[in-house]
Amino acid sequence: MPRTVRDVVFVDGVRTPFGKAGPKGIYHETRADDLVVKAIRELLRRNPGLDPKKIDEVAIAATTQIGDQGLTIGRTAGILAGLPTSVPGYSIDRMCAGALTAVTTVAGSVAFGAYDVAIAGGVEHMGRHPMGEGVDPNPRFVSEKLVDESALFMGMTAENLHDRYPQITKQRADEYAVRSQEKAAKAYANGKIQADLVPVSVRRTNEEAGETGWGLVTADEPMRPGTTLENLANLKTPFRVHGRVTAGNAAGLNDGATASVIASEDFARENGLPVKMRLVSYSFAGVEPEVMGYGPIPATEKALAQAGLSISDIGLFEINEAFAVQVLAFLEHYGIADDDERVNQYGGAIAFGHPLASSGVRLMTQLARQFEEQPHVRYGLTTMCVGFGMGATVIWENPHFENAGGSK
Ligand SMILES: CC(C)(COP(=O)(O)OP(=O)(O)OC[C@H]1O[C@@H](n2cnc3c(N)ncnc32)[C@H](O)[C@@H]1OP(=O)(O)O)[C@@H](O)C(=O)NCCC(=O)NCCS
Repeated sequence: MPRTVRDVVFVDGVRTPFGKAGPKGIYHETRADDLVVKAIRELLRRNPGLDPKKIDEVAIAATTQIGDQGLTIGRTAGILAGLPTSVPGYSIDRMCAGALTAVTTVAGSVAFGAYDVAIAGGVEHMGRHPMGEGVDPNPRFVSEKLVDESALFMGMTAENLHDRYPQITKQRADEYAVRSQEKAAKAYANGKIQADLVPVSVRRTNEEAGETGWGLVTADEPMRPGTTLENLANLKTPFRVHGRVTAGNAAGLNDGATASVIASEDFARENGLPVKMRLVSYSFAGVEPEVMGYGPIPATEKALAQAGLSISDIGLFEINEAFAVQVLAFLEHYGIADDDERVNQYGGAIAFGHPLASSGVRLMTQLARQFEEQPHVRYGLTTMCVGFGMGATVIWENPHFENAGGSK
């Protein structure tokens, strides 16, 4: 039976505010699956045209798929969110690019005609599930030198990337980090971020007083507005003695969840749903695991080639900031200035945080807002580096594009 590939669109995306992992973090007493439920409920609330019975799939990513992130979380979170039991779900893992992969996976199914509409997102509660919890890497990786030992520690791979790009100094990484904090603070001041956050009620306790009541989380906890180069200059370099990667120029350890609605364009239009972005192409690529931060470069090359576009066609970039050096390597490769105004206009993970498997949909949600505001831009790109040496890139088209001045 001949099949026609259908246009796929990003209908909407939301997220919980991100928290700091650990006993003092806002979500210490909150379950990971409850964060996902919040995000799904919010999507349904703000998209009344989306009949829950019509949802064909719920794909939710988590890197550590045990405990409250286990049990095929797409399925369990769907039931907990009150979706009809007829709506199936599954979990997915590509570490940092989990939610991004949830989106591309359901998008492929929409394009094929297997689904009309699906929910895709991700969660990581790094407080409840620290990075590497329960992992058991095969000893052959190291004994047979399949990878260098540093490949297993993301911060060390970032130091390795600094070695590969000696011109990307700690000073440049710190300057980038300061700008990320400034842009994020400005985006908050201008109400750009809050519009896609779902407030979360949380239980608070402390060691002396026990339960101290409930609070409502409405903003990202990790942000450090007012960060200066001087603040960052003398921070410890935990991944290497006299290294360059610090808590200031890296994303932190965080908790949070995201969710999005992905549909065929026809379904969205027939059901009165918004069309915020149109999928153009997506690609994944592997690189040497010890320099995993390089991954976005070959992934982007593939995605651009598939789309018949070049980097100069891209008018907006949302690059996940796992580490400043990895964003700078990408920009350096393409000859884009460190402070190019097309890049991470609202700041990035260095400021907001990076709850691993959830972050991809945060990038998309932010790009969708920027598309709305900038109809002169036709194409935008979301890209991330991924543990164990991978990159992931999705290229999107702006449905609001007006080719007034002929620019991209
Ligand atoms: C870098 C890392 C080890 C730091 O962890 P941490 O030590 O728990 O981080 P903290 O938030 O406590 O920050 C450490 C110090 O830097 C300071 N700091 C961090 N950011 C700062 C900023 N913007 N301005 C000023 N000081 C800052 C903190 O105040 C703290 O100071 P203190 O030791 O005096 O209390 C951790 O965030 C990490 O592993 N990040 C990478 C996560 C990762 O690999 N993700 C996957 C990517 S692929």
